[in-house]
Amino acid sequence: MQNIEQLKSAALQAVENSTDIKSLDEVRVQFLGKNGEITSILKTLGKLAPEDRKTVAQSTNEAKNEVTDAIEAKKQAFELAQLEEKLATEKLDLTLPETPYKLGKRHPISACIEELETIFARLGFSVAAANEIENEHFNFTALNIPAEHPARQDHDTFYFNDFEEFNGEQQRKLLRTQTSNTQIHAMQAKGAPLRIIAPGRVYRCDSDLTHTPQFHQIEGLALDKDLTFSHLKGVLQVFLSQFFERDVKLRFRPSYFPFTEPGTEVDIECVFCEGKGCRVCKQTGFIEVLGAGMVHENVLKAGGINPEEYQGFAFGLGVERLTMLKYGINDLRMFFDSQNEFMQHFGKNL
Ligand code: DAH
Repeated sequence: MQNIEQLKSAALQAVENSTDIKSLDEVRVQFLGKNGEITSILKTLGKLAPEDRKTVAQSTNEAKNEVTDAIEAKKQAFELAQLEEKLATEKLDLTLPETPYKLGKRHPISACIEELETIFARLGFSVAAANEIENEHFNFTALNIPAEHPARQDHDTFYFNDFEEFNGEQQRKLLRTQTSNTQIHAMQAKGAPLRIIAPGRVYRCDSDLTHTPQFHQIEGLALDKDLTFSHLKGVLQVFLSQFFERDVKLRFRPSYFPFTEPGTEVDIECVFCEGKGCRVCKQTGFIEVLGAGMVHENVLKAGGINPEEYQGFAFGLGVERLTMLKYGINDLRMFFDSQNEFMQHFGKNL
């Protein structure tokens, strides 16, 4: 008994005498460590006579708790002293300039998509979306591009090895080559009348200075009981003028897209030379900006719409191309590098 009391006083004295955190920890190891003096007594409890065991256990545990508390209190005192010393010696220089940091900006492609969404919202179009992993039915067949159609070859498609069953047939999966797939999904989901635009990523196995394997398109589709080509002209005139912030002159050239009849390619008067002829427009005074047309009746049927009742127009444009024209960006790769200088200059404030 005496022994434990003495041990406890010795331990408390040692705690008291310790001069810093390190020597305090040595005290802890000496008395409470794995082979510490108090710990050793606790380990030998089993060997004691049963009548002694309880009292020894009790007083040893009390000693252990007391010493533990004393060590903790002393440790806190040391830490506080350290902190006070630091505060007393350290100086805070409030005149130092702040660490500069730059706020990021919205990528010009995202900004352009948002801007077009806003313009089309004012024209009564809502935003639709569809999967980028698609099957050949929605990317081609339903858009009046059957299996053997040469237009399938034009698209340099990324195919998967997977198939999925659709319309009772095995449809090969692919990365969509055009946002036109949203036309079918939107018709099937919402029916007519309909006014949607569908921005999104498309993929083609194509890569050079002016093509990247992944780029963005915006699809547009409007269906109603008596929509005509002049409505298409009106919508394109309004949206392109608002987007380029000037009264743009449009030129319609007859063209072929399997999902339209008639189909057209639309040019705007060159925004760089105002039609006089320059390198960008290859001296023609005009620049092609999108494809469009009246929706082919086979497409309406594939979307579950009765062509006798509803007609409409559709269009599709490349977002990168439109953004490059608007801001005079001449290298497609800059959109992917997203370097800080480029983003600070062409990006949109958040
Ligand atoms: N999907 C066409 C392409 O990727 C673009 C297009 C042309 C979409 C005419 C249309 C359209 O909706 O009517 O080249």
